[in-house]
Amino acid sequence: MSDQPAPVVPRRHVVLVGMMGSGKSTVARRLGAELGWGFVDLDEELERRGGGTVSEQFATTGEAAFRQHESQVLAEVLGSETPLVVATGGGVVVTPANLDVLAERAVVVWLRARLETLVDRLGDGAGRPLLENGDPRRVLHRLDEDRRGVYERAADAIVDVDERSPDEVVDEVQRVIAPLVRI
Ligand code: S3P
Repeated sequence: MSDQPAPVVPRRHVVLVGMMGSGKSTVARRLGAELGWGFVDLDEELERRGGGTVSEQFATTGEAAFRQHESQVLAEVLGSETPLVVATGGGVVVTPANLDVLAERAVVVWLRARLETLVDRLGDGAGRPLLENGDPRRVLHRLDEDRRGVYERAADAIVDVDERSPDEVVDEVQRVIAPLVRI
């Protein structure tokens, strides 16, 4: 037996899920830097691969096509051998196949926020196609009701984000994933 420390091989990727406005992108980027892992923002990756901004993609090809592309890119990203911290779009959990991919390849953390926190942070919903054509509070309330149970079932751990700074959330995510991921 060698006296060298065992190579550090993380078990899985870390994926943040939660409603739009819960801070997934900011937290995932900082967490990736803290862990020295790669960082992928799924919405940015979808935009990078063509089709314009998320709003443009919703407008030109519609939500169903967006969801299909989102699933395909999620599976590809999580196929990476290199450990990644991934920020998903809030609706990633509405496609059942995505839940299987997440369960198989990632430690999933739900960034849970109260409705008031989301409403405050998202304002008029600019840049979020689902919020652009209606009252953001009403749409957020409906989406939150629909998705809360799915986020909970998909999650290996839950972190509350209300009244916490991004750095405090990053610290808390690190604490909850420590027993779940080999860092
Ligand atoms: C969506 C959330 C958005 C984006 C798209 C749909 C949703 O991502 O994927 O507008 O269904 O909740 P963020 O959660 O990063 O805003």
